[in-house]
Amino acid sequence: MCGIVGMVGSRNAVPVLMEGLKRLEYRGYDSAGVAVFQPAGLEIRRAVGRLSELERKLAAHPLDSTLGIGHTRWATHGVASERNCHPHLGQEGRLALVHNGIIENYQELKAGLVQKGVTFSSETDTEVLAQFVADCTTEGDFVCGLRNALKQARGAYAIGMLCTDQPDTLYAARLGSPLIVGKGENGLFIASDVPAILPQVEEVIYLEDGEIARLTPDGVEVWNLAGEEVSPKWVKVEMEDTAVDSGGFETFMLKEIHEQTRVLRGLLDTYLVDENIVLPDLNMPDQQIRELERIMIVSCGTAYYAAMYGRLLIEKFTSIAVETDLGSEFRYRSPKISHGTLVATVSQSGETADTLASVKMAKEAGSPILAICNVFGSSLVRESDHLIYTHAGPEIGVASTKAFTAQLMAFVLFTLHVAEVRGDLSPDKRKELLADLQKIPTAVLRVLEGKEGIREIAEQHHDGPSSLYLGRRFNYPIALEGALKNKEISYQHAEGYAAGEMKHGPIALINDSLPVICICTETADEVDEKMISNVREVQARSGRIIAIATEGDERLADITTDIIFVPRTRESLSPLVNVVALQLLAYYAAQARGTDIDKPRNLAKSVTVE
Ligand code: M6R
Repeated sequence: MCGIVGMVGSRNAVPVLMEGLKRLEYRGYDSAGVAVFQPAGLEIRRAVGRLSELERKLAAHPLDSTLGIGHTRWATHGVASERNCHPHLGQEGRLALVHNGIIENYQELKAGLVQKGVTFSSETDTEVLAQFVADCTTEGDFVCGLRNALKQARGAYAIGMLCTDQPDTLYAARLGSPLIVGKGENGLFIASDVPAILPQVEEVIYLEDGEIARLTPDGVEVWNLAGEEVSPKWVKVEMEDTAVDSGGFETFMLKEIHEQTRVLRGLLDTYLVDENIVLPDLNMPDQQIRELERIMIVSCGTAYYAAMYGRLLIEKFTSIAVETDLGSEFRYRSPKISHGTLVATVSQSGETADTLASVKMAKEAGSPILAICNVFGSSLVRESDHLIYTHAGPEIGVASTKAFTAQLMAFVLFTLHVAEVRGDLSPDKRKELLADLQKIPTAVLRVLEGKEGIREIAEQHHDGPSSLYLGRRFNYPIALEGALKNKEISYQHAEGYAAGEMKHGPIALINDSLPVICICTETADEVDEKMISNVREVQARSGRIIAIATEGDERLADITTDIIFVPRTRESLSPLVNVVALQLLAYYAAQARGTDIDKPRNLAKSVTVE
């Protein structure tokens, strides 16, 4: 989603801004722009499409300034066009502003400005904010006026701002959308995330909600919304700069799919010490674990499917009741967060607005917060009391792959830890589970080694308008995730269904042109037979069956020839392996359909608006 970068320093800011915007590309965008300070006024360049378009404009009309802001826009209000692109100007160019988030009362603010004779050149909420800030800062103390403006803006924002009458001054503010301030030898910076300015900075400040920062060559001053000056907490940056290289793979997504063996092995090496599960950031005393009555897991998208898996695991192996919610629904359904409830969240980025808003609500209701998260220092991490890092490394492909399997693994480890502390699992059963868990990375590797077979199947079935994904119990969330992956990157409509639910409606869709992807790895109980019966129901209606099956299982031989065999694993762990086959199936379908796999249309990596 939108990305912000800004610099006030000792060298030309423009190349730094462009490099920062490139590093923010993975978040998803449709247009981009920069504004720089010049003694004669603020200068802007904006372009629709990829950053190369903006580079072309800058090459034709270069800019040179030590103070500037840049932005990648993911359209919310108004189409992707040059006039809707950021930076937006206020008061005929007195200030330039970039914004991430949504100003929900922009119509109301705009009406007041129109009455005062202000005219607008775009359809955006951001231009309204720029004009509104300009209007509130025409006289008196600038920071006071800015604070007054922001107090009246409802919604979420991270902003970067320049003003013609304040050379060498860069303003930043946030509420609900992430923004950091950084310092390095070339100056001071702002950005939506640390990787955007990683080569430039040694230390950063994670701005808190409601804070306003003023960056000048003399340093950084920070105020809260009440107007009190706060002392910024500088944090040393310890991130490795590995994000920009696809490592010889044709796409980041394919690289990240292949990284899963290493990521899962790494998680086991980190969190499993001599057969003991050690979660160093969980920070949850045994007594608290014993007193848990209910866990409510809140998340969005792929992370929501990880949560569904987490619920199945926790309820199978412990005596705790679990609910799952989508972040965008949780806070609007009056959830009853009683004593003994833990609110858990799952998020790759740690910046998803719907998840964060739910966390804030749960905190206000007095619940402790557990976050399963991939990004150190993210907003979610900072809001949470208990943490499990997924250590998947930067995920650049917009469609989540390695972060998802790492989330599944985090749930397995959390469940086993909780079950042990509460005495819900016998030592023998625990030992068996741990032994099977250790085999998962190798099983994932075997699926990866079979990718050519998966490619052939994808190439035969990618062409239709739609596809259906079926799974039961532990593999129901995986059917949903498989369908989501396919939708996201191949743009083919896909639906995931609980296989037992098919006869209640979707069976009407089945004909000889609908690919039906059936996850039927063995479960060693009655669910196994029921799944095979569901596959036979599809067969009886001439559906095009693609099966994910356990190596050596011959039961599907008379049903379909399109079978992706995966190594035998216990059912409760099989999602970690089966999903890799579905990621590859979606990947090769997308490749055959010729889409932009790493940056699928309309999608954002980090969804920072509600
Ligand atoms: O960063 P998060 O895990 O909180 O993101 C949640 C979803 O936006 C994300 O999983 C999305 O569905 C991905 N595009 C899935 O591939």
